[in-house]
Amino acid sequence: MRESTAYRCQECGFVGAKPGTCPDCARAGVYLPLVEERVAARRGGGHRVAPPAPAAVPLGAISVEQGDRLPTGIGELDRVLGGGVVRGSLILIGGDPGIGKSTLLLQASQALAAAAPPVLYLSGEESAAQIKLRADRLGIAPDGVYLVAETDLSMIESQLDALKPRALVVDSIQTVFLPELESAPGSVAQVRECGARLMRLAKARGMATFLVGHVTKEGAIAGPRVLEHLVDTVLYFEGERHHSYRVLRAVKNRFGSTNELGVFQMGERGLAEVSNPSGFFLAERPQHASGSVITASLEGTRPMLLELQALVAPAAFATPRRTVLGADYNRVCLLLAVLEKRAGVPLQSQDVFVNVAGGARVVEPAADLGIVIATASSYMDRAVRGDMVVLGEIGLTGEVRRVAGLAARLKEAAALGFSAALVPAGNLGDDGNGSLEVRGAATVDDALRALLP
Ligand code: TYD
Ligand code: MG
Repeated sequence: MRESTAYRCQECGFVGAKPGTCPDCARAGVYLPLVEERVAARRGGGHRVAPPAPAAVPLGAISVEQGDRLPTGIGELDRVLGGGVVRGSLILIGGDPGIGKSTLLLQASQALAAAAPPVLYLSGEESAAQIKLRADRLGIAPDGVYLVAETDLSMIESQLDALKPRALVVDSIQTVFLPELESAPGSVAQVRECGARLMRLAKARGMATFLVGHVTKEGAIAGPRVLEHLVDTVLYFEGERHHSYRVLRAVKNRFGSTNELGVFQMGERGLAEVSNPSGFFLAERPQHASGSVITASLEGTRPMLLELQALVAPAAFATPRRTVLGADYNRVCLLLAVLEKRAGVPLQSQDVFVNVAGGARVVEPAADLGIVIATASSYMDRAVRGDMVVLGEIGLTGEVRRVAGLAARLKEAAALGFSAALVPAGNLGDDGNGSLEVRGAATVDDALRALLP
């Protein structure tokens, strides 16, 4: 076999013939060294006989097998996967270190093993003994779950032949390697080749395969983007380190919607499903406190009630502080400017702190009105009635704009015992069932008059 040398960027996967910095990344202002890699040249070389091209088939004539989904036994995970895991699919789960990826997959292995044994758990990060200790703590019975602390992927095939697992977990893709590549585990070349090898194994054996992927400081899965292109499903496991709640989100799914999200709580005995996230986030809500407003946010198709909190206090320094947790900083600054200019609430000599309780995060503009009302409520030191949800997007002229999916949001609020809602005036009429007292607001001023007269 002939060997050749190539120089590869570890960020974007660019390959050059000479050492230096990556020209692609340099264009974006980042200077990264190209890393030397030795590649074994393909045997044979020269002329190869082209295999016959497969014939094209009319789309309508293709038959699809139904019932190829396995429930993982964890409802929130099944929901994100689009109703269970598809046989032979490759699923990448990314997340910060310590967020609970290994815990989630160990719990899923146990549940999958009950439905479709055996399950093989390949760990390159922890020893078998460490995993056993964790399993004991989680109360996982070992039936049907097999462990192997192996990182050489070329050895794995014999294990698969012997065990014939229905599902495989690789924890993590950055620790496994193929010995025929010279670069280190975790490098772009290794991650990509191992990913491709696992893809072929998963498809050929009809074996559902979960890959754990580490994320970089920027929050993307380490290794080349090609890994995300290669796999069928990419999930991100997120959460605040110091809060117990975790969210599993699909960013790509060939077998389902990417709008779904699963909510978990990390506890003494691992991850527990949170089937009622609104109740979870509202559990510690203060009663009759100023600066607290409940909004109904829509995550994909799932409505979730969140508590928005604001604290307004006289500024200690000439430049007032704006501190925002759980929402977009620039958006909050814009909303404070609208509140000041359009509703006459003087904030230029006030520090403003905005927080979404429980470590949750709002991304959609439907929370705008809630943030504005919470801020005004704290400034006036008057509480907003506690049985009301507030929602609406705010424009720069102080108008309250329509939000999507109002009926679903109000249904969730009614289910949690709320009795009234303040919604954009333009949305009046699409509130679905009439169990809530619904009021409309066309401007920020309207909303303030309605809630803080
Ligand atoms: P882990 O699954 O090892 O994270 P990852 O694989 O994403 O790096 O989770 C580690 C964290 O979870 C650790 O900080 C402790 C916590 N944890 C619990 O709080 N309860 C538990 O039952 C378990 C197993 C872990
Ligand atoms: Mg881990």
